[in-house]
Amino acid sequence: MTRHQRLEFLIVKIMLAGLFFLGLVFHTSYCQLTITDVNVIKGAIRQAIDARAPDGFRPLLAGAVRLAFHDCVGGCDGCINHNNADNAGLKVYSDQLDAIYTNYSNKLSRADFYALAGITAVERGAELAGCPPGERQCSPQITFRYGRVDCPTSPNTNIVQAFPDAHRGVGDQVSFFSREFEFTERETIAIVGAHTLGRAHTGASGFDGRWVSNPDALDHTFYRFMMEGDRLWAQVDNTPGGTSRRYQWEANAGLDDVMMLNADIGMFLDIQPDAEGVASCGYFDCPLSSTEGIVAEYAQSNPVWIADFGAAFNKMIENKQNALVEPSAVLFM
Ligand code: HEM
Repeated sequence: MTRHQRLEFLIVKIMLAGLFFLGLVFHTSYCQLTITDVNVIKGAIRQAIDARAPDGFRPLLAGAVRLAFHDCVGGCDGCINHNNADNAGLKVYSDQLDAIYTNYSNKLSRADFYALAGITAVERGAELAGCPPGERQCSPQITFRYGRVDCPTSPNTNIVQAFPDAHRGVGDQVSFFSREFEFTERETIAIVGAHTLGRAHTGASGFDGRWVSNPDALDHTFYRFMMEGDRLWAQVDNTPGGTSRRYQWEANAGLDDVMMLNADIGMFLDIQPDAEGVASCGYFDCPLSSTEGIVAEYAQSNPVWIADFGAAFNKMIENKQNALVEPSAVLFM
């Protein structure tokens, strides 16, 4: 082979390698995502989550946060099984987000998009609690990284994932989050504070009501309310006579029309529920739960909770991922 032919051969090899690399990039991560892309997509999500329901609140704000959690159980994969009763109520939110996603489906996976929607929602929730955008003391610090891979049937799946039982106490919640997300006990208590957003619906889970007075505002009010005895918390059946009972805690002091699940109040009190979910003791005679100290810390300090919540949320939306990258400042393709 002449020197000229060797050079030609080398050039062809380099071109083939380049094409192979581009193919890989397109195949595995759609296309390179820039910080500008991310900001544009977040803007579109934010516009949607700011839409208000007739009661004045923003259902998609909470819906996007719950969806990010449910999508990441079993590994974040852009797929939800709407026939699984544990996902009841999510379809209305995933449909709205999926409609926006179609505009960006060439840029990132649906799983990345759901994670980004969750981040946008918690950041917006902090702003609606009065926090200046990005302020570390009151806004969760979350770094969006992309590269999640959707399941082949995205956005739907028939695979049934197990979710935590809302009737159980803290022991079950800690085991679930440890198994599923490798969370510590503290991370588990921190992440459930997401319940400061949104509400439960009789037509979805069977529970009913908001956890706090302003369900659009992300701060530590959930922990404060739980510890306030003058709310006269008492357990009631939200589905009297129903075949599938739903026992929840309601504040009876006329302060706010709010509720808590066993899974929430169990972080503060050792409620020892029976098989149906009925607590073995009342709010004032239950012993304190082993995690009461963490609840008290969060009730006392929003900055402490928000820092822990941001870190746990970040870990949750990267569940079972090992090839995520940060968006780049400039486009190099
Ligand atoms: C102990 C574990 C958990 C249990 C038992 C639980 C249970 C529930 C239940 C029963 C509902 C009511 C659904 C409905 O009727 O519409 C709900 C709503 C919600 N959950 Fe959880 N959840 C848990 C953890 C989490 C986590 C880790 C997050 C997010 C990081 C989260 C975010 C939400 C949000 C934002 C809502 C309100 C949704 C809306 O307004 O439609 N939850 N959860």
